[in-house]
Amino acid sequence: MENFTFYAPTYFAFGKDTENEAGKYIKKFGGTKVLIHFGGGSVVASGLLDRVKASLDKENIAYIELGGAKPNPRSGLVYKGIEICKKETIDFILAVGGGSAIDSAKAIAAGAVYEGDFWDYYQGKEVKEALPLGTVLTISAAGSEGSGDSVITHENGMYKRATSGEALRPKFSILNPALTQTLPSYQTACGITDIMAHLYERYLTNTQDVEVTDRMIEALLLTMITEGPKAIADPNNYEARANIMWAGMMAHNNSCGVGRSQDWTSHAIEHELSALYDCAHGAGLAVVMPAVMTYNMHHNIMRFAQVACRVWGCQMDFNHPEITAKAGIEALRQFLISIGMPKNFEELGAREEDIEKLAYIACYGDVNNGTLGGFVTLKQEDVEKIYRL
Ligand code: NZQ
Ligand code: ZN
Repeated sequence: MENFTFYAPTYFAFGKDTENEAGKYIKKFGGTKVLIHFGGGSVVASGLLDRVKASLDKENIAYIELGGAKPNPRSGLVYKGIEICKKETIDFILAVGGGSAIDSAKAIAAGAVYEGDFWDYYQGKEVKEALPLGTVLTISAAGSEGSGDSVITHENGMYKRATSGEALRPKFSILNPALTQTLPSYQTACGITDIMAHLYERYLTNTQDVEVTDRMIEALLLTMITEGPKAIADPNNYEARANIMWAGMMAHNNSCGVGRSQDWTSHAIEHELSALYDCAHGAGLAVVMPAVMTYNMHHNIMRFAQVACRVWGCQMDFNHPEITAKAGIEALRQFLISIGMPKNFEELGAREEDIEKLAYIACYGDVNNGTLGGFVTLKQEDVEKIYRL
């Protein structure tokens, strides 16, 4: 295991009706004038926004609302949010929604206390300071409620890029699994896929002897395999939703990723798809992940065979471990198809004629330096082959 530091000071309030405590937690963390940031309207339709606002009213906390964060959130609204925060001397941001609203809120939080262009942070500048931020989560997926990460698409070039920093970790996150019961099953499935990708991208490591984090990842993957289909079959299954919600947080707050190298190839390759075609991040991952694994499998057959046996219940073939490894990848692929995810480029709405451009942007676009991947180092020609797979 490699040396590491781990500091994840988010305060979690988990369970039924916890959204009614939002005002109380904002007060606890010193907020007096709040920007409430949300997405395209699901939180308005469900009445959640009204409940959250009532909890702020109860604590006499002033607020301004900014809706409209799109799935795959864009830079334009971030600039608008930063302007509001500066003009109105906002001192706390509350994101109500999914990864998109939360990531947009994080970008605003960082930009609001920075004199330069917030996009600098998405081109490698470290985020050291940001307005404090809280979240009320409505979809188990991105894990942004417990992470210091944010992913934004810049409209000038449609680059989708990520940033990270301790200052972006939410001060608190409110996780009420019942809030996810209004999700369409497709979005539930996209979330399940994303959570599994966050686990796999950490599992694919070059670090030896990381048994504790291997086992934590396997446990969370098994949880997704048993609980995911229950939530798809019965959207009102609170217990399944609860298990998925906490697994989604643990999958990405990096408790399973410390002390080991991580991959993030599938995410890098997928981000160009959701930037260009505006598909759901999870749907893109469902297509990309099995292809990346198939391409990289020979780098460490035994690691793929291990997850195949421990998670997917495949039989180990010691004479031909590649057969076991392949069976595990195929089991993952079939599972994702069974929950309603697309299985290929065409079903995703992607076009073969864009492959060269997609691979170029993934490797060279914006600040990238020509290669990607933490498990196997890939060049543009490799990425093109993966898109074709
Ligand atoms: O916009 P609204 O109207 O709220 O609708 C959303 C959106 O259309 C809807 N939705 C969310 N909760 C709902 C609901 N509909 C009904 N009932 C509910 N309870 O679902 C759609 C998807 O929402 P979104 O926030 O986009 O989903 P997700 O949480 O998957 O976030 C995706 C974004 O997160 C980024 C992705 O790249 C993508 O941009 N990621 C962020 C990460 C991070 N910050 O750590 C890591 C991830 O790997 C990922 O890259
Ligand atoms: Zn993801």
